[in-house]
Amino acid sequence: MKLGVCYYPEHWPKSRWQEDAQQMQKIGIEYVRIGEFSWSTIEPTPGELHWEWLDESLDILHSHGLKVILGTPTATPPKWLVDRNPSMLAKDEQGRVRHFGSRRHYTFASLEYREECRRIVTLMAERYGQHPAVASWQTDNEFGCHDTILSYAEADLAAFRLWLAAKYGTVDALNKAWGNVFWSMDYRSFDEIELPNLTVTEANPSHRLDFQRCCSDQVVAFNKLQVDILREYSAGRDLVHNYMGFFTAFDHHKVGQDLDVASWDTYPLGFLDQEAIYTEEEKHQYLRVGHPDFGAFHHDLYRGCGKGRLWIMEQQPGPVNWAPHNPTPADGAVRLWTWEAFSHGAELVSYFRWRQAPFGQEQMHAGLLRPDAQEAEAAKEAAQVANEVKQLAQSLGLDAEELVSLPSAGKVALMFDYDACWSLDIQPQSRAYRYLFWSYRVYEALRELGLSVDIIPSDASLDMYELLVLPAQAHITSELQEKLNAYEGVLLAGPRTGSKTDTYQIPENLAPGPLANLLPLTVERVDALPEHTQLAVSGKWGTGKLKHWHEQIKTNLPCVLKDDAGNPVLMGADRHFYLASCLDNNLLKLSLAKLAEKASLPTYYLPKGVRIRERGNVIFVFNYASQSVVFEPENAELLLGSKTLGSACVAIWKKNK
Ligand code: GAL
Repeated sequence: MKLGVCYYPEHWPKSRWQEDAQQMQKIGIEYVRIGEFSWSTIEPTPGELHWEWLDESLDILHSHGLKVILGTPTATPPKWLVDRNPSMLAKDEQGRVRHFGSRRHYTFASLEYREECRRIVTLMAERYGQHPAVASWQTDNEFGCHDTILSYAEADLAAFRLWLAAKYGTVDALNKAWGNVFWSMDYRSFDEIELPNLTVTEANPSHRLDFQRCCSDQVVAFNKLQVDILREYSAGRDLVHNYMGFFTAFDHHKVGQDLDVASWDTYPLGFLDQEAIYTEEEKHQYLRVGHPDFGAFHHDLYRGCGKGRLWIMEQQPGPVNWAPHNPTPADGAVRLWTWEAFSHGAELVSYFRWRQAPFGQEQMHAGLLRPDAQEAEAAKEAAQVANEVKQLAQSLGLDAEELVSLPSAGKVALMFDYDACWSLDIQPQSRAYRYLFWSYRVYEALRELGLSVDIIPSDASLDMYELLVLPAQAHITSELQEKLNAYEGVLLAGPRTGSKTDTYQIPENLAPGPLANLLPLTVERVDALPEHTQLAVSGKWGTGKLKHWHEQIKTNLPCVLKDDAGNPVLMGADRHFYLASCLDNNLLKLSLAKLAEKASLPTYYLPKGVRIRERGNVIFVFNYASQSVVFEPENAELLLGSKTLGSACVAIWKKNK
């Protein structure tokens, strides 16, 4: 459980660097990420390389015992490079070029740009691969930020045609798979295929899905190119990339396979304000601490993308600049977010950024230091956490280093699948339905029951889970089907599970497709509802409302919840259950509590705004509510904090044997 910070020495006079390093050390920071936007400082003009500033900066950090995460600078190619390779620029869906002047001005598919990346990353890796300060490398920065995964330039078209030819072999196979007979869309060769933009009305969903998959694979290849170089010159260092919140445009599980650790950038207030998922009430209620499940959901999701290892590369330290509104965090919120990350297995929490920059696009974005180098509120909270970590280790009789070995896995698994997400978002059928949002609400309900959850990919092993939830696994592969058949815990499959084939067609036996042997039922009709319409649901497991999505099911399975007309809503027997609709939060929670009971998992009654997470016998308690609450786990001893938790407070308990 270490602290870090994102640092831009190139923004400040050299005379300041020693002092920065000293101050970091004083706060308790051990890791420093640098370099990820520094290409024009390293190479101001083609081939003229200026390493001296980076040499000096690394040496200073090293002399203060700080470990460095060195970023490859490929998210910000310099102007001269873009002017030499204009075809590297991305194009938006309208076919307009996305120009130089901010960042991420490239398309992943550009082979010219990949060569430039190969050159600069090799130069950096040769020079610093063995530097004693360099503990880790970050590839690029936030793949996909500013909507940069789907690009419609010539390079993208060339990559797409090759990708399709490799996938389908013959264009006839593609025509069949896509159902191109519909609207006379048949092609005679792969060279006739265009990108799915600027069509008169919506393009074929199979075409769109394959384009999304292809773009995602370009990200995987782009990342892998850098990884291969870094492994060659800097073996033994952790390779990492920093993912984003609520971002699904590429397959993070696939990118994660090539890396050692998954990290992500967490901005709880920025996302609360910006995201359509949150209601106005939630935005109001959690204005200064963020939604109680925002951090947790992503920690659990990305831990599952990173071979079990998780870092927070950028933690919000104060107001950000990029959301529609940018409020100040509550006192204690930065500490709470840091502990929440540790409670989900994060090995490192690194704050963005060290010192607020007085220039450029982010001059209104807080840092641990103010622009005048005085410590901002977050610096005190970071220092407090650094001390508390030591205290926790001591009270558990562990070395601070050993804390990371506390188990972080949960007993409940929620399957999250990027391909399913793309499929269901391409034709949402109701604008109110979104795969990600529905998955998040299922996660929220599980967490409100005090359950510790793992968010797993569809190819994960299921053995260690007592309860498995598939929120909407659109396509069930034969491998997944086999695993589900062998699975011995309690299974809940949600609406839209098994509703599509691999090439975006409706399965011959209708949904849930291949899952019909485990769950003998047929989805006969779908009622896709607008946001304002909610229908009553009741049954043995509770009463409430359904919304957004409602399937009409034919089945002989026993039903525990039905709609007003007597149609099955939640059905199943023994260990296998199917949910045909999106339920409101309370009914969803009641239903999941019943399933947890069947799986012999204890659940908690938590006050509103309170969340817990367990790591082995350690229980972390968080209060996101704006008022004080009292919560005391049974048969446990207090290690830190108190049972009365003020707003944004944390308590840590140890379960007695
Ligand atoms: C992240 C990005 C950082 C910085 C930060 C501001 O998306 O990686 O470079 O822009 O947001 O909140």
